[in-house]
Amino acid sequence: MAVERSVKDSIPYLDEIVQGDCSTLLRHLPNECVDAVVTSPPYYQQRDYGGLGLGNESSVEEYIEKLVAIFEQCVRCVKRTGSIFFNIGDKYVDGSLALAPYLFAHAATQRTGVKLINIITWVKPNPEPRQYRRRLVSSTEPIFHFVKSEEYKYFYDRFMAHRDVVRQRVKAGNNIGRQYLELIEQSDLSPEQKQEARLALQQAIAEVQRGEIASFRMKIRGIHSEAYGGYEGGRKNHLLKKGFTIIRMYDRALKRDVIECPVIASKLGNHPAVYPEFLVQELLSLTTEVGDVVLDPFLGSGTTAVVAKRMGRHYVGFEINPSYCQIARQRVNEVEVQPNLLEFFV
Ligand SMILES: C[S@@+](CC[C@H](N)C(=O)[O-])C[C@H]1O[C@@H](n2cnc3c(N)ncnc32)[C@H](O)[C@@H]1O
Repeated sequence: MAVERSVKDSIPYLDEIVQGDCSTLLRHLPNECVDAVVTSPPYYQQRDYGGLGLGNESSVEEYIEKLVAIFEQCVRCVKRTGSIFFNIGDKYVDGSLALAPYLFAHAATQRTGVKLINIITWVKPNPEPRQYRRRLVSSTEPIFHFVKSEEYKYFYDRFMAHRDVVRQRVKAGNNIGRQYLELIEQSDLSPEQKQEARLALQQAIAEVQRGEIASFRMKIRGIHSEAYGGYEGGRKNHLLKKGFTIIRMYDRALKRDVIECPVIASKLGNHPAVYPEFLVQELLSLTTEVGDVVLDPFLGSGTTAVVAKRMGRHYVGFEINPSYCQIARQRVNEVEVQPNLLEFFV
């Protein structure tokens, strides 16, 4: 309790959403007072947030200059054990990507001495459905993970355990089983072969649930392509004769620098660039503990504060647009600290 009070006393704006320009507000925070910064600044000339704040500069260089000045303040506010996550998307200028995220990351490391330990790729399974004839639809964005020292907090095992639980639930849960069952029914397998395929599927699901295998894939004759080449000959024969084959994956999953989650439309108001709660959850789970302080200088509709509160972390949120502040406050007020979620992530 005494610790709680001292945190509250020493950090202005703790558990508050403050309307204003973060380049000014950040100066009110003491040195080394927050455990993590998780944020998504406005992208270069990408969206209109009511004509306010960063992102409307006339050149990429000017944008980077302003953003790095704000980043420098973030670095000052973060503890030696802390992490800084910046998610920034790119922009086409005269038909070419401006590389703004990477120019920023380069300037940020050069100017502040932070270490860039990962460029995590956020993969969006549901990108904006645009039909370009001469290029591919962009469906990823980088999230830069910077640290101030080698002493940064990192909860890899917790993260792996969480990933394993999620993976098992997703892969072994009804979803994947149901999909394969439907495919078995739709196939031209004989009734006996279908029965054998169902049994083999149930067995593979049970093996994942018991943790004996990491995952599996099923191939069904006439539905999936045949295995290539000679080395898969056994499987190919099984597929042709029995009508199905199951490929088991035994290796423990590596935690890769990829987070796959869909863009979610905001239910509250119309903030144009809400990032997914899951993204923030993953980053906080990896680098923070209950009671830590999380800062978002570009809070938007409040996602970082919502997730921080739910996970039992403190938050500090700055947002220049008054109507987005209102949305953020409403979202945060509706959030409860969820003990079950904490059990799961901590
Ligand atoms: C990409 S959005 C953040 C969205 C947020 N991650 C969410 O999930 O809602 C960037 C936000 O930064 C705000 N902003 C722009 N310049 C700012 C500044 N100088 N200080 C504080 N907020 C600013 C914009 O109004 C916008 O809401």
